Amino acid sequence: MKQRTLLLILVFLLGGMICRADEGMWIPMLLKKYNIEEMQRQGFKLTAEDIYAVNQASLKDAVVGLGYEEMPFFHFCTGELVSKEGLVITNHHCAFDMIQSHSSLEHNYLRDGFWAKNREEELINPGITASILVRMEDVTDKINAGLKEGISLSEQKQKIAEICQQLETEATEGTELKANIKPYFNGNQYLMSVFRIFKDVRLVGAPPSAIGKFGGDTDNWMWPRHTGDFSVLRIYAGSRNEPASYAPENKPYQPESFFKISMKGLNEGDFTMVFGYPGTTNEYLTSYAIEQIQEVENPHKIAIRTAKLNVINAAMESDELLRIKYASKAAGVANAWKKWQGEIKGLKRFRTVAKKQEEEKAFRQWAGTQEEYATLLEKYKHLYGQRKDLVLAAAYVNEAGKKGAEIVGWSANIARLLKDSAEKEQILIYADEYYKDYDRNTDKKILSEMLRLYNRNLAPEWIPEEVRKAAGKKGIDVYVDKLFETSVLADRETFVQFLENNRLKAYKKLQKDPAYRLYVSIDQLYKKQIQPELTRIGNEMTVLNQNWLAALMKMHPERTFYADANSTLRVAYGKIQGYAPSDAVGYEYYTTLKGIMEKDNPEIYDYNVPDKLREIYRNRDFGPYTQDGEVPVCFIATNHTTGGNSGSPVLNAEGHLIGLNFDRAWDGVMSDLQYAPEICRNIAVDIRYVLFIMDKLAGAHHLIGEMLLVDE
Ligand code: ARG
Ligand code: GLU
Repeated sequence: MKQRTLLLILVFLLGGMICRADEGMWIPMLLKKYNIEEMQRQGFKLTAEDIYAVNQASLKDAVVGLGYEEMPFFHFCTGELVSKEGLVITNHHCAFDMIQSHSSLEHNYLRDGFWAKNREEELINPGITASILVRMEDVTDKINAGLKEGISLSEQKQKIAEICQQLETEATEGTELKANIKPYFNGNQYLMSVFRIFKDVRLVGAPPSAIGKFGGDTDNWMWPRHTGDFSVLRIYAGSRNEPASYAPENKPYQPESFFKISMKGLNEGDFTMVFGYPGTTNEYLTSYAIEQIQEVENPHKIAIRTAKLNVINAAMESDELLRIKYASKAAGVANAWKKWQGEIKGLKRFRTVAKKQEEEKAFRQWAGTQEEYATLLEKYKHLYGQRKDLVLAAAYVNEAGKKGAEIVGWSANIARLLKDSAEKEQILIYADEYYKDYDRNTDKKILSEMLRLYNRNLAPEWIPEEVRKAAGKKGIDVYVDKLFETSVLADRETFVQFLENNRLKAYKKLQKDPAYRLYVSIDQLYKKQIQPELTRIGNEMTVLNQNWLAALMKMHPERTFYADANSTLRVAYGKIQGYAPSDAVGYEYYTTLKGIMEKDNPEIYDYNVPDKLREIYRNRDFGPYTQDGEVPVCFIATNHTTGGNSGSPVLNAEGHLIGLNFDRAWDGVMSDLQYAPEICRNIAVDIRYVLFIMDKLAGAHHLIGEMLLVDE
């Protein structure tokens, strides 16, 4: 008995030590210094230069950050080049809006899938960008050299922005490149990323949602998982292979490098690495911050979204057209909603607050009377105390107010366009796009729910005047009925009429519109009571965070710290591995087509397997895409990933593509705040399932023909 305990402790300790290495999202430029030896010890066969090099082609040239033209340095997803003709694979959910915007009742690409048979049929996606990192540079010293002592926090912020802009311009002047500087390690370091940003990204193919989104929001964030979450894009470039806006004569982009595709198969324990654009993590928060997320922010945001989802889901169940209209919106709302719940669960289970408190106790001891450190935690405590009511009120402004019922946020967009005297044509195009996916009745119900929650859950001082009035004597439903009867924004026809009838006075007239008045009331409260204070606290927190992390680094010289995710290119590495979420439960590391058939249920939308796939399964027509006789579908690994990593290439020890990252397992989604090696798993779709679907279901042999399949 004793011996067994001892052994367990030993295994646990060793496990902890080995697994610890799986935590972290590393900076490609610095792998050579911090990680490559460890990576090679874990089985990686290549060098640091194979991953990131400036003067020769490297794997980084095949990783694509997907963005929007207005904010190309925020990458909503990652993709990877897989052919010398600019072919890119990413997730189905990453291209979901593109697929949806090309869909109608006649051409329902969401339901039926879409496969361009030739280059002419590939569909343009205005506004989507694809960035490829050219190089990185440490500009910390340049920035610090430009800062003066004794200036205020907001002056300092301003000054940093100025210097960054200047450096970005200098770095790219006279070139087709774009540079962007971001803070790392809470502003203790600044790195510049220089990109080539392509603006002609076309949709090449997508499986039906019944494959690409199999399991829907029921299985989202869950393992075991059977989602074929992939889609295919192509980057087009100008005649010199340079980034260019869409033009019919653009040519497929010829990349510096692209990923080879591994047909070798996977084993538990295999080395894996994820190479992509993780968005945001907060690994160095204090217990005060975690407590606020766990007890205040998340629970309220969850409650608001639950109310919204109840309305939207009922609408989608009731009608096929509503299902199309609200598919993307529902997925968006449900996604974070479910993650926040998992996050709370994980934080509680791993006693993150208590653990952080213990660390903070040690910190206090270490800091002793050293002046610059001794007061840090007290300052945090004070600021989080001040912040509590404000973040709660801000959550309602956002979740229940501006992004609650659509009519509210929409009224503000229209006001902005009218104020800037946008062309009527332009407004109409914009409006068509909006009303195409709008349902007045659904939105009405959402508004009622939002107003109810707003009034119920906040102290009076945080409730905007109009919101309070809505809950007056006659009740919220009467208010909402009236708002929708009288607003010119309630449906397309009324809005078009309004534009026709009020050429010059439209902006002025809109001021009286009840939907816009509601928006203004919410916005005013925000601007007056919330935003200035939150900004002040934010500025103070920025400095505090910088000092805090610097102090932690000083306290733990033995630890290699990694920078929180900030939507820049990172490498996470680890291994393929199952996990045990609770007593007597253990998960395998991969799923198969057999599992899809087990879940098959024509009655349930999320589990209705396409007939053709059923038939393929019946005939066991699997081609070369099998492992132990079954078609592998998804697998899990210990790579530390987060939102933005969707679509990221998952690579094996040779640097070959074995899958696409698309999710994490629910038990471990608190890894944005605290990574726990025993339970944090990223979920990827196996590249062989991607090929299987392309080959057997879509018949897209020409696309597979473009790729390079290898046995390693
Ligand atoms: N959970 C994944 C991510 O965070 C997939 C989201 C899209 N899928 C969905 N069912 N909503 O983005
Ligand atoms: N689905 C996420 C994304 O869109 C990745 C999952 C995660 O947050 O790890 O990036």
